[in-house]
Amino acid sequence: MTRTPGWWREAVIYHVYPRSFMDTNGDGVGDLPGVLARLSHVEDLGADTIWLSPFFPSPMADFGYDVADYTGVDPVFGTLGDFDRLVEEAHRRGLRIVLDLVANHTSDRHPWFVGSRRSRSAERRDWYIWRDPAPDGGPPNNWISEFGGPAWTFDRATGQYYLHSYLREQPDLNWRHPPVEEAVRDVMRFWFERGADGFRLDAIPHLYKDALFRDNPPNPGWRPAQGPAKAHLPLHTKDLPETHGALRRMRAVADAYGDRLLIGEIYLPFDRLVHYYGLDGPEVHLPTNFHLIRCPWDASAVADAIRAYESALPAEGWPNWVLGNHDRHRVASRVGPDQARVAAMLLLTLRGTPTIYYGDEIGMTDVPIPPDRVEDPWEKNCPGLGLGRDPERTPMPWEAGPGGGFTTGVPWLPLGDDVEVVNVARQREDARSPLALHAALVALRRSERALVAGSIEVEGVEGSVLRYARRFEGRSIDVALNFGDAPQPCALKEGVVLLDTALARRGERVGGASVLRAAEGLVTAHEL
Ligand code: GLC
Ligand code: CA
Repeated sequence: MTRTPGWWREAVIYHVYPRSFMDTNGDGVGDLPGVLARLSHVEDLGADTIWLSPFFPSPMADFGYDVADYTGVDPVFGTLGDFDRLVEEAHRRGLRIVLDLVANHTSDRHPWFVGSRRSRSAERRDWYIWRDPAPDGGPPNNWISEFGGPAWTFDRATGQYYLHSYLREQPDLNWRHPPVEEAVRDVMRFWFERGADGFRLDAIPHLYKDALFRDNPPNPGWRPAQGPAKAHLPLHTKDLPETHGALRRMRAVADAYGDRLLIGEIYLPFDRLVHYYGLDGPEVHLPTNFHLIRCPWDASAVADAIRAYESALPAEGWPNWVLGNHDRHRVASRVGPDQARVAAMLLLTLRGTPTIYYGDEIGMTDVPIPPDRVEDPWEKNCPGLGLGRDPERTPMPWEAGPGGGFTTGVPWLPLGDDVEVVNVARQREDARSPLALHAALVALRRSERALVAGSIEVEGVEGSVLRYARRFEGRSIDVALNFGDAPQPCALKEGVVLLDTALARRGERVGGASVLRAAEGLVTAHEL
């Protein structure tokens, strides 16, 4: 397929969690043929780039983020042939496919780790991070796993500990050992040769750890509700300068294949995040900006986030925004169904590439998971803190009925009990549904050049209303969003309504002293 240079600047990314998108063989787990079968949904929405969470062979300790073979497809998801068919059909339709590259760690069943743990002198010993016990026999230092508990596990066979930033079933690769890096770059080449349009790089700020293995300092602001991993400041385990060299070398592999996209999963404050565009040569195209997930849902906080991000961006850095993913509670649960419509308008009218998490376009909410159906290891390790990720990973409801059109079998996680209302088929028939709103917003983004290429200027906050303008070549697209649940008087630009969150006011003339309804968002246009 032809990739116009910088295509990802105009892209609307759709994030699919394959286990939960579409099951074609009745085993209750989504699969690659299922993604193929539902490509039209992505097309109808208007998105053009699909990021697939991992589908590689895996014992599924972390549902595919524990990879046992980087160049295969787990039988539960299908075959390499299914992947090839998916890429071919996606490309035929002008859709791009971005894969998830989990390079910080492998599964403990990966042949590399199996070899590494065999003996202290094993050929692959240095592919992972092995250390002697502390003098008292305990772990080498105080590092904590992201999922709780020590980041070290003792391996009796060789009398050493190995490091795992996540589960003990996810040993960290040793990025200070050059063959590791080369092997990962080979994985990239393998999938690029097969047509992959890019990678989302998992957990990328974790790649390098302190070479001296110094203890992390305590986090003075820590509250137990944040989970055990936040008890320390990750001074020696995250965002080390060495990461940037590795990313430049990964970028060189991507560039050798011509305009393939690299997205980095990077939870960092703006001033650190923007370094991942690359200070000494290009790194990732899109260091993921997670701030809308974290920021308080009010007009001033969002205005501040937009301003802070825009002013932190380097000259060549292209912005991006997301509202949700498979690790965070769903936006419709965080802010409620009405504000979720405001959020969609925000996401799709901000400057930068947006990513839509599957199901958010129909207003899916977190599904409460009964204790006996918990799957996520994080919830199992730290029960009751609300850290578990199953609620936001439930199957996509395509239609009403028990399996929601997702499966003819027993779904691996329960569907929501609102499946009769919140499903794709029903919302396709409803001109004012969340799905209709998302499709209209994406279509508007495609038809109004200013929404992609225009500047952004935050014009002000009045009470619960935020206003900003996107300007391009003599045309201004003006956005006003009411983050409150009460009507808010505010001054609007004179203009014509292109779109409103209720899908009820298109074509209306507005301007001057006005009132935005509760949870109302308006996109208007005027010539400059
Ligand atoms: C990333 C993934 C998350 C996974 C973790 C470990 O944060 O998004 O789902 O558990 O990395 O691979
Ligand atoms: Ca299946």
